[in-house]
Amino acid sequence: MFRRRPLLPLTALALALGVAPVPAHADVFTPGSAGLGDPYFPKSGNGGYDVAHYDLRLHFDPKTHDVSVTVVIKAKATQNLSRFDLDYSGPKIRHLEVNGAAAKYARHGQELVVTPRKGLPSGSEFTVEVAYSGRPHAIKDKALGLAGWVETKDGATVVSEPDGARSWLPSNDTPQDKATFTFTVTTRAGTTVLANGEPVNPGIVGVRHGWSTVKWEMRQPMATYLAMIAMGKFKVAEGRAAGVLNLTAYDPSVAKRSRHLHTDTRKAIEWESKVFGAYPFSSVGGIADKLDVGYALETQGRPVYDGGPDNLTVVHELAHQWFGDSVGLRSWKDIWLNEGFATYAEWLYEEQHGGPSAKSTFAKLYKSPKSFWKRKTGDPGRNDMFDYAPVYQRGAMTLHALRTKIGDSIFFDLLKEWTETNRHGTVITRDFIDLAEQKYGQDLDPFFDAWLYTAKKPAV
Ligand code: ARG
Ligand code: ZN
Repeated sequence: MFRRRPLLPLTALALALGVAPVPAHADVFTPGSAGLGDPYFPKSGNGGYDVAHYDLRLHFDPKTHDVSVTVVIKAKATQNLSRFDLDYSGPKIRHLEVNGAAAKYARHGQELVVTPRKGLPSGSEFTVEVAYSGRPHAIKDKALGLAGWVETKDGATVVSEPDGARSWLPSNDTPQDKATFTFTVTTRAGTTVLANGEPVNPGIVGVRHGWSTVKWEMRQPMATYLAMIAMGKFKVAEGRAAGVLNLTAYDPSVAKRSRHLHTDTRKAIEWESKVFGAYPFSSVGGIADKLDVGYALETQGRPVYDGGPDNLTVVHELAHQWFGDSVGLRSWKDIWLNEGFATYAEWLYEEQHGGPSAKSTFAKLYKSPKSFWKRKTGDPGRNDMFDYAPVYQRGAMTLHALRTKIGDSIFFDLLKEWTETNRHGTVITRDFIDLAEQKYGQDLDPFFDAWLYTAKKPAV
């Protein structure tokens, strides 16, 4: 309404003068950008809108691995949109609607270009419904390995960091745009379905002709790469930890190394809540499956482990619930804010549970050869974003060096304030430096330059 009012006098004037009316600027509708220009993943994410919620309906047959998905995306336009993109690299689309009317779409690489019948005014809410059927395949990246929809012997499991969500979910696939999720999953009765968040009561919505439907809900905002569904044969355990539901599960084929998962999860989250501040989600857990991707992932509220995890891996993935999940990234080059912090959580856990001190772990690594220092921790490069030495270990070393410089009391305060101020938000490295400087009361730029943005061993 407001938008159109200025047009009327203009139109009247134009008619009086006998010329064609000039559209007011506010009524110009343009395409949303095809990416957000992330230096490592320039095509990931899209411009012009903000997603609030993904409502997913998924049908899965563990015998054939066939999948049917209908996703309803609730979003809000942030500009006048003539068209917009989703990220999507999955099976053939069956139909696509915007606000309940069929819309035109085209696929160009990972971009799904959607042209609604009518432009979407800035500030307005809209829904997109996308349906597809087929067999999704994980994104295979030469440097980073597999991410996305992973088929297993008895089902499928999703682990999507950094850009695998598009393999199965048409989405705004960027950590910048968090949204809530509901998962309604139908599969053969006897196959267990797990997802982020909590099962919606009574868990099983219905059983019909050998198929059953269950519903899960993630009520806190979540980045697409942290969305998780796991389907297959699982042994499930339920309890409480840090005041919330603790729901863990393991595939019987990895039972040997998974028996401790449930209690390790509880112990880790209870210790971490003391050190990092209140646990940010309404349930916790973990899933050990046989994936063969070679890594674990901190899927929100309920990490996924490739095989039975050791205790420190559980500590690491659960530390990500604060560092990475609740306090999310805005840019992938800041990945040390996730991995450096989660690795330092392991060092702290060892230090406080009769293991080596963080100081001794630091000292050992400080003697590493030249190759250990050859990248920038604060910008390791796309292909090395998950490399252990420059990102995980040197990220943790950066935090330990900071702790040594500013003292334990300010350092541990800083960790809590960081998770509290940025709860369910997104950050860049500068935000962390600013907060550290504010608490310390002195310039820390030379310190962080040496530790994060110099490709050589810093002096201590
Ligand atoms: N964030 C995971 C961790 O906690 C690692 C994910 C690696 N992803 C990949 N595509 N290689 O260590
Ligand atoms: Zn990690």
